[in-house]
Amino acid sequence: MILRKKLKTYSKIALVGNSDSCCMPLSSSSSSSSTGCCSNNNDIEDSKNSSLSSSAKSIGFNAKELESIPESSIWGVGCGGNPIKFAHIKEGDTVVDFGSGAEGIDVFLAANIVKEQAKVSGIDMTDDMLQKARDNAKKHGYINAEFRQGDIENKVPVENNSIDIVTSNNNCVINLTANKTNAFKEVYRILKPKVGMMVLSDLVTYKEFNVDSIEVESWCRCIDGVLTKDNYIKSMKEAGFKNVEIIDEISYLEVEPPEQNQEDNGRKITSLTIMAIKD
Ligand SMILES: C[S@@+](CC[C@H](N)C(=O)[O-])C[C@H]1O[C@@H](n2cnc3c(N)ncnc32)[C@H](O)[C@@H]1O
Repeated sequence: MILRKKLKTYSKIALVGNSDSCCMPLSSSSSSSSTGCCSNNNDIEDSKNSSLSSSAKSIGFNAKELESIPESSIWGVGCGGNPIKFAHIKEGDTVVDFGSGAEGIDVFLAANIVKEQAKVSGIDMTDDMLQKARDNAKKHGYINAEFRQGDIENKVPVENNSIDIVTSNNNCVINLTANKTNAFKEVYRILKPKVGMMVLSDLVTYKEFNVDSIEVESWCRCIDGVLTKDNYIKSMKEAGFKNVEIIDEISYLEVEPPEQNQEDNGRKITSLTIMAIKD
């Protein structure tokens, strides 16, 4: 049910843009008061006009980085962190981005760093996202960026022990999975032992959502599937990561208590940038 809804939601976003769903908490939602940082249509227009989105800069992308990638990649950012900034990618590294989306910003940023003798692969489950990203790569002449279809909770189409860096961005990829440990197991499986590193941005909460109240719509906006920080780190450790470090944490959203239960204190959601090394 959630998988079907996710595919439908992300196909729509790929086709019409991130205007009313995706990782963006709805300001009109009865269950959430949005102070979220996602881009909206106005931001997209701003990006078109100014070419360098201020939201992208505010999360740590510098002008040089933004100028080095297709302008269309910049439109969707502002929702997450900037894992690439912390990943210390080097020329020749093999990089995989989980949930690369239609813009493929992290794939293109990484592809510029690893240069043409190495490859960066974006993994996404949504056909329309993949198509847009592939068109973008072709249009801008990226020969070292590719986009593969795969479900990050199941077998990702990447060999064991072959990757230097796995990234995932926008607060809203691992977070969408029903089983975070399975997604982290896939990251662990493909990373090179001793040197392989994962850097991602994702949402955590101080209080998990009651499973009985989970709404598929809200899951797809990356709200109902959010774990506590402890459970998030636990799921990484269950997947095999022993060395986990939180690099950054910023406030993302305060979800108000449901009308029928004002005793509930609501949920504070923050965005983490987190790093883990495979030993
Ligand atoms: C919010 S978008 C993030 C896109 C991109 N990372 C960015 O920063 O712009 C989330 C993406 O994750 C993908 N996704 C969600 N669950 C997935 C899964 N289980 N396997 C593969 N891709 C998934 C969706 O198709 C969508 O493209």
